[in-house]
Amino acid sequence: MKIVVLTGAGISAESGVPTFRDADGLWEGHRVEDVASPDAFDLQPSVVHRFYDARRAAIAGVAPNPAHLALARLEERLGDDLLVVTQNIDDLHERAGSTRIVHMHGELRSALCRACRTRTPWTDDLGDYPPCPRCGVSELRPDVVWFGEVPYEMDRIFEALYEADLFVAIGTSGVVYPAAAFVQFAAGGGARSVELNLVASDVSGDFDESRAGPAGQLVPAWVDEVLAGEL
Ligand code: APR
Repeated sequence: MKIVVLTGAGISAESGVPTFRDADGLWEGHRVEDVASPDAFDLQPSVVHRFYDARRAAIAGVAPNPAHLALARLEERLGDDLLVVTQNIDDLHERAGSTRIVHMHGELRSALCRACRTRTPWTDDLGDYPPCPRCGVSELRPDVVWFGEVPYEMDRIFEALYEADLFVAIGTSGVVYPAAAFVQFAAGGGARSVELNLVASDVSGDFDESRAGPAGQLVPAWVDEVLAGEL
């Protein structure tokens, strides 16, 4: 059975990583247009760097939770038949042991050079404008896909959605596209779909099944069902 799993901020919430749109979410404290658009970076790069430097430093202090670990366990058994597409820019999936991961919105621990387009693994601040390790120009920006920009690896994602037998969305509100439409693409290819979310999302109605609860409980239980051949 070929499975595509889409994850959002909700899967990292129990690790202590804030979501975007919940009561204490990131977009409560920051205006999207101030920190998550190319225009914001042109206008006030130091504000944008401060926002992402703080998030990059913060993920060093958190750890994967049972939901991340369960998906890594599923990959051990399914191998190439599983693909995890994450909207998250933290590295908790990888630290849990997952390797078949697509970061469609980029990664906090990566820097993108605006001069030569090189992506470089990066764990330090960018707010002191370090030079690009490849071209030497100090034009590094957070390697995050901002509003109005095209997500990474969309061809690979659509191919996997079309071939999927089962599509599962975990911890995402279903308000940001194109990710919010993946359930429909997968259904178009004949896949069954399951939503695992704390509360019903904006697109719950598009799923064959929707389960409500914390990912740390729902995901290990769902993985057990898959591995027991009950799904
Ligand atoms: N377990 C499961 N789901 C949870 C949990 C939890 N412990 N905590 C919160 N959730 C759910 C919320 O109910 C909400 O539906 O996770 C979802 C988080 O939604 P958002 O904060 O909107 O995050 P996400 O869907 O990942 O945002 C998508 O928007 O801001 C942009 O680029 C950013 O990748 C992000 C995209």
